[in-house]
Amino acid sequence: MEMDEEYRKYLAKILLDADTVQTRVAELGAQISEEYRTKGDLILLCILKGGVMFMVDLMRHITIPHKIDFMAVSSYGSGARQSVGHVRILMDMSADISDKHVLIVEDIIDSGHTLSYIVPQLEARGPKSVKICTLLSKPSRREVDVPVEYLGFEIPNEFVFGYGLDLDERFRNLPFVGVVDLDKYKP
Ligand code: IMP
Ligand code: MG
Repeated sequence: MEMDEEYRKYLAKILLDADTVQTRVAELGAQISEEYRTKGDLILLCILKGGVMFMVDLMRHITIPHKIDFMAVSSYGSGARQSVGHVRILMDMSADISDKHVLIVEDIIDSGHTLSYIVPQLEARGPKSVKICTLLSKPSRREVDVPVEYLGFEIPNEFVFGYGLDLDERFRNLPFVGVVDLDKYKP
């Protein structure tokens, strides 16, 4: 199989190796299954595109009935490394969430702007609950507080890629989370 090995040029270090990620994802899946078991209808809402790999792995460990859905939001454009304060829904989810439990599945919370915009939008649609499951969080970067119910890992303030997270849309397929060497990676 051909692999996109170019990532090696830009990798400063592996922050979370594939086994570490998989172990934590399995734990989160078990915890979610337990905590939603008696609650009723659950919808996992993947935030595109970064949340895709996390959600696909996570749902394999969720042992209760659930549905999946997707929403695409604008964060920052290609090349940019900062979230702009305003967020837009590029593609809305298709399910009616009234009286349902929504669990947002996100790759990373950085400034918090993206989720602090999405959560009230969803809450206005009358769900039973809206909660957040994020693989990664950079608490030192937070500008807006967002309550996180399920967290994979807290990470330092470094730009990371792999396991859904991109470097200008590439390398989402890597099974680990790596830190970018910003001296070698010039977009
Ligand atoms: P926030 O609105 O600042 O919380 O940013 C959230 C979004 O920014 C995430 O969903 C990611 O798409 C993107 N992002 C933030 N930090 C990183 C990173 O280190 N690598 C890749 N994408 C990131
Ligand atoms: Mg994202």
